[in-house]
Amino acid sequence: MDSLKNKIDLLKKKKNAVILAHTYQPGEVQDVADYTGDSYGLSVEASRTEADVIVFAGVRFMAETAAILGPQKTVLLPQPDASCPMADMITPEELVEIKTRYPSYKVMCYVNSTAEIKALSDICCTSSNALTIAKKLPSGTGIIFVPDKHLGSYVQEKTGLSMVLWDGFCPTHLRMNPSMIKKAKKLHPEAVVLMHPEAAQECRVLADYILSTGGMCDYVKQDRNNNEYIIATETGIIHTLEKQNPEKIFFPVSDEVICPNMKKGSLESIVNALEGNGGEVVKVDAAIASKALASLKKMLEMS
Ligand code: 13P
Ligand code: SF4
Repeated sequence: MDSLKNKIDLLKKKKNAVILAHTYQPGEVQDVADYTGDSYGLSVEASRTEADVIVFAGVRFMAETAAILGPQKTVLLPQPDASCPMADMITPEELVEIKTRYPSYKVMCYVNSTAEIKALSDICCTSSNALTIAKKLPSGTGIIFVPDKHLGSYVQEKTGLSMVLWDGFCPTHLRMNPSMIKKAKKLHPEAVVLMHPEAAQECRVLADYILSTGGMCDYVKQDRNNNEYIIATETGIIHTLEKQNPEKIFFPVSDEVICPNMKKGSLESIVNALEGNGGEVVKVDAAIASKALASLKKMLEMS
C-alpha cells in the first residue's frame, strides 16, 4: 500500500495533478486525496483548482461536472465503469417531453445527472443547496425536479412549491427502511440520527437531521452537545467523520448501505490513470458543455 501511495505522490507532482474524492470512496482512496467532500464541495474544488489534471475518485457524473467546469483541464476517471444508476434514470427525450407538458415550469436538476440533462435544465443543485436555491426562486415558480424523486419530495415538503417530480431514485439509499432505523435507534438511544435527503420520506421522518454528506461533516464538527451519531447514508462517510472527529462515535444505520459504484475506487486504478495505462479522460461535447455550464454556474451563484 505504501509503495502505491509513494507512486501516487510522485505522479501527482510530475503531472501537476490533484485528487478529488467523494466521501463514499474507500478509506484508502480518501487518504490519498487532496480534497474529500460532497458533490457540491467537489464541484467548487474542481472549479478553483490550478492543477492541470484532476483525478476524480467518484462516479462518472462527478467527473463530467469537473470537465464542464474546467474545460481546459484533463479530468481522469480512474474507473470508467463507475456510474450512478440514478443519473441514468432519465433520458434527454423524456425531459424534453415533460418540459412540453409544463412550459412555464423551471427545470431544477440534481447534479447526479448526465451532462445532456444538465444542458436541458435551468439550474442544477446538489443535496447541500437544493433547499436554499428553491427558496430563492421567485414566488410562484413551478419546478420540474429531476431525477431524484426523494430529494425532490424533501424540497417540496420544506418549500410548499408546486413541483413535478421525476421517478428516479438512489438504489443505495433505498436500501434503508424504517425498521432498520428504529432498530439502530433502539441499540444506540443516545445517538443523533443524521440522514441524507436521498432517503425515502418514510425514513426521513425518523431522522433528527436531514443533511448532505458535507452537511453531516459540518454538523458533527460544530456539535458540542452530542458524542454519538447514527449515520444514515453510504457507510464510506464514516471514515471521513472518524478522521475529522476522533473523539466521537459513529454507527452505520446498516452495513448494507453501500454504493457498489463508489466502492470501485482503488489506489491501483489511480496509479494506472495517472500513468496513462487505464481510466478514462472524460470529455463532454462542447455544445452540451456550454449549456450545462450555464446551469452549474447558476447553482454556484445561488448557493
Ligand atoms: P452528496 O455528495 O450531495 O451528499 O450526495 C450524495 C451522493 O449520493 C452522491 O452520489
Ligand atoms: Fe448514485 Fe446513490 Fe451511488 Fe450516489 S450513492 S453514486 S446517488 S447510486
